[in-house]
Amino acid sequence: MRVITDMVELRAWAMDHRATRPRVLVPTMGALHEGHLSLVDRARIRAGTDGVVVATIFVNPTQFAPHEDFDSYPRQAEADLAMLEARGCDVVVVPERGALYASDASVTISESAIGAGLEGVSRPHFFTGVCTVVAKLFNLIQPDAAVFGEKDYQQLAVIRRMVRDLDFPIEIIAGPTLREVDGLAMSSRNAYLSPEERAQAVVISQSLDAARAAMEEGMVDVSTLLSRVEKQIATQPLARIDYVAGVHPDTLEPIDSVGDDGLLIAVGVFFGKTRLIDNLCWRRNLSDAG
Ligand code: PAF
Repeated sequence: MRVITDMVELRAWAMDHRATRPRVLVPTMGALHEGHLSLVDRARIRAGTDGVVVATIFVNPTQFAPHEDFDSYPRQAEADLAMLEARGCDVVVVPERGALYASDASVTISESAIGAGLEGVSRPHFFTGVCTVVAKLFNLIQPDAAVFGEKDYQQLAVIRRMVRDLDFPIEIIAGPTLREVDGLAMSSRNAYLSPEERAQAVVISQSLDAARAAMEEGMVDVSTLLSRVEKQIATQPLARIDYVAGVHPDTLEPIDSVGDDGLLIAVGVFFGKTRLIDNLCWRRNLSDAG
């Protein structure tokens, strides 16, 4: 496995290996867990044995607000590299601090519809930071495909919109959310949770499971579904809800009633200082309809 930290070397690698295709990218911020590694597995399937899987590890400063956890974000480069090597990754790009952005960088990429609600309300800077860094990685690495997790459903949707609107010739592949045995969505930020917070955080996936069961039984009223999710989360004293929202799974616009396209329930919940997100994308099985 080759590790590249210098962007000049990365450009040279991308040029020298331009015929080795497909090239499939898995962008990460490190602190890898099985959820990330499952994205690497998806990348390998897409790349096949002739192609190349490239992962990136970069805690991107531009997607963190000053009060957020950029400084404390877990960093474990050696362990991450060992995991990626064991998983058969071919190249890992680990930009040195400051290597990706000019000190006077003044160009960013903003998406103004898909990213406006949900995370965009709580973290107004976030998607501009994500789009900008992902576009830079696309330009530097020139992948044929890139894999993003559905745990960050809105991020995945924003990236798809950016790829469409800016004509990046890149296929975006979604990887399903991986969960701990009790249902908590895998996240690098789970490492921040105290044992008590960790025990209570399972309520998030439990509340989403209950909403799924209610929709399977025919409930279509979104405000009832959301208030049930909120009430269930609120049973845990350490949980502080940031948002619980019900939106159309494609447009991410709020909807009142679950229609043929289904419903995305997205939640952000604080446990102490740790903010966790999760979602349920429920699609109606139309083949079941009369
Ligand atoms: O999902 C993440 O880990 C980050 O937002 C990403 C896509 C690597 C961009 O920094």
